[in-house]
Amino acid sequence: MEIHRLRFWSRRWWERDRPLLAAGCVLVFLVVIFAIRSRVKEAGVRNRAVGPTFARLDSPLVDLTLLRDAKSRGAFCLDGSPPGYHLQRGTGSGFDKWLLHLEGGGWCNDAESCAARKRTALGSSRYMEPAHFVGILSPHQSLNPDFYNWNRVKVRYCDGASLAGDVDKENLNGLELFFRGQRIWIAAIDQLLSEGLAKAKQAFLTGCSAGGLATLIHCDNFRARMAKEAMVKCLSDAGFFLDEMDISGKKTIRSFYNEVVHLQGVMKNLPSGCITAMEPSQCFFPHELIKRLTTPVFILNPAYDFWQIQHILVPSNSDLDGQWRRCRLNIRYCDSKQIEILQEFRKSLLNALSEFQQNGKGGMFINSCFIHCQTMSNITWHWPTSPRLNNKTIAEAVGDWFFERREVKEVDCPYPCNPTCSHMEFL
Ligand SMILES: *[C@@H]1O[C@H](CO)[C@@H](O)[C@H](O)[C@H]1NC(C)=O
Ligand SMILES: *[C@@H]1O[C@H](CO)[C@@H](O)[C@H](O)[C@H]1NC(C)=O
Repeated sequence: MEIHRLRFWSRRWWERDRPLLAAGCVLVFLVVIFAIRSRVKEAGVRNRAVGPTFARLDSPLVDLTLLRDAKSRGAFCLDGSPPGYHLQRGTGSGFDKWLLHLEGGGWCNDAESCAARKRTALGSSRYMEPAHFVGILSPHQSLNPDFYNWNRVKVRYCDGASLAGDVDKENLNGLELFFRGQRIWIAAIDQLLSEGLAKAKQAFLTGCSAGGLATLIHCDNFRARMAKEAMVKCLSDAGFFLDEMDISGKKTIRSFYNEVVHLQGVMKNLPSGCITAMEPSQCFFPHELIKRLTTPVFILNPAYDFWQIQHILVPSNSDLDGQWRRCRLNIRYCDSKQIEILQEFRKSLLNALSEFQQNGKGGMFINSCFIHCQTMSNITWHWPTSPRLNNKTIAEAVGDWFFERREVKEVDCPYPCNPTCSHMEFL
């Protein structure tokens, strides 16, 4: 009897108050999730911020911020999602100084390769996770001596054309794809200006790989959007891609860039003096871009950039008999004939930079390592075992140049002369 009544009561209660109960459950669930998230975040910050010993310093995880006005500006990742960045605020003397880093990640040159990116963080913010701030973004003075307390921003790359494409329509072979890199650039800078970048006394635009190329494309525009009295400079890390033939004599990179530029409508965002003088996709190459820059720029590039060796000099379809299979993955496996070819590639880089070397405002650091990006790893940026030229780490050389402590035009002797190099080993 009692049990029966209880059942009856509970059934009535269940029926009458079900919506209330459901709402209550959702609320409790949200509160729990929120509490866990903020505890995790706090713990993360606490653990990471204090590190009494050098070796225990960890890299902070910084949350993603999506662009507020993405929709109204038509600034979309390849899949139509809003782009984003990660910002860690400056402190102390760094509160009115800003360092931006443009993320890299190659390019896409046709509908298929761009559509494949929609399922990755390189084409959709749905897959982007918090970012580790290391190297030039590190908040630790011992790892990042000159920029550790600045406002530091990592701008995510999700357009596939170095933030420089712009096509209105979004249909390609029935695939919905947005080519809006230029609008992402404009909208991201607008949002950062409103976050305090507009009041920056010093600003430094940097980027690596495809982001290093984006830095060269947008450097003067960045300068123009900052206060006149601000000190503004740019740095391209592993972004000096060479217009060279591959080992089979094919112009692989030239035709690849040509496809990227035409597919994504990059022409109109390249220097007008250049696109009228030659085939527009030629103006996507750094040696054409730096000639026309008026803002001081630093070129950081290894002479044996493994990305360039694997995609420009020895793309896999240029090495059909597999003679380069080991060498292109580990420079220690190159035979003397292959080293000779690599030395010619180094000479082409220095040749493309010969005019720039006379540029009084410019800086350069061309080390003879088999590596790619060097600003975005604490090991290559500033560490007792980091690569050095003139006994300076990359962080020290870049800081010396930025703050005009000395002229920095460092060019290493040819491989294998530099014992401070850490060569990448894929094999
Ligand atoms: C260097 O960075 C890696 C992650 O990229 C991290 O695991 C390591 O702790 C860092 N070292 C120092 C000294 O910060
Ligand atoms: C190189 O720099 C380090 C510190 O950065 C210093 O201890 C060392 O003496 C320098 N070596 C030379 C040869 O100047």
